[in-house]
Amino acid sequence: MAFNPHKFIQTQIQDAKEKIGAKATLVGLSGGVDSSVAALIVSKAISNNLHTVFVDTGLMRLNEAQSVKEAFSKTGLNLQIIDAKKEFLQALKGITEPEQKRKIIGNKFIEIFEKYAQEHKIEVLVQGTIAPDWIESGGSGGRDIIKSHHNEGGLPQKMNIELYEPLRDCYKHEVRLLAKELKLPVEIEQRQPFPGPGLAVRIVGEITEEKIEIVQKSCRIVEKELEQAAKNKKIELPWQYFAALLDTKTVGVRGDERSYMYTVVVRAVRSLDGMTANFSHIPPEVLEKISSKITNEVQGVGRVLYDITNKPPATVELE
Ligand code: XMP
Repeated sequence: MAFNPHKFIQTQIQDAKEKIGAKATLVGLSGGVDSSVAALIVSKAISNNLHTVFVDTGLMRLNEAQSVKEAFSKTGLNLQIIDAKKEFLQALKGITEPEQKRKIIGNKFIEIFEKYAQEHKIEVLVQGTIAPDWIESGGSGGRDIIKSHHNEGGLPQKMNIELYEPLRDCYKHEVRLLAKELKLPVEIEQRQPFPGPGLAVRIVGEITEEKIEIVQKSCRIVEKELEQAAKNKKIELPWQYFAALLDTKTVGVRGDERSYMYTVVVRAVRSLDGMTANFSHIPPEVLEKISSKITNEVQGVGRVLYDITNKPPATVELE
């Protein structure tokens, strides 16, 4: 049967009324479409005692916290921002193993939410977990863990808050239909997927402030150039497009001098739900513009690669 967004929302509102009722509830908002839709559905079920919180991990895109705040001011939900940049950076210091990074980030999120919950006597935590998150985190058993999604495998076993996940069985394209039905601002409805652990999974190896800045600036260039190319009808806008950073420096030449700088990877994929993906066929002149902008404008980068791997065998993110 075709997915009916209107019916789904009505059913979930009823479900949230029954399961949450008068309990004080916290929504962890990432600014993405999943958690935004989850927040809005729950807000329609319980109008009192709902706390909507955005944790600024410092691992977001350029000015992300600000733009999330602006977009949310249009929804009527009162968004609170918790600045946890220093905490996350400190916890990730020296960590290079991808699963360890994910677990640390997941645990940090929960730690922050638990602290907030204690202070505000919260009983229920709402998350925007969707089907691919838990399937790739090992599902209900019997599957390999591909990666621990931060809102899934990283959760501590002993949590003293109830979890409520209204979108657990939905796929991304269905969540976008829900966002449309709920009349969420178009920048949220159409926002490309962004991983819960943020830029941490786009920085191979140890995370440092310098690397975060490189990825943020490179990512902004990739977004601007591909969105412009799509506007000019040179390409169809990919499902997801971003820059990532390798833990490898390579040799180059600047003027007459040898350079030894970082390598940025440009990733752009077509997909329906992120479970499988194909790399986008971007015309060489668009890639060339991205490459020269990144090497000219982003300090510390000497080489730009375009990722031509599908999922499988690769994943969309690098970690
Ligand atoms: P992968 O890298 O697993 O990505 O092929 C598939 C899709 O999922 C996003 N992704 C995540 N989303 N929490 C999320 O909410 C996560 O931990 C996470 N890891 C990957 C990724 O951006 C892509 O859209």
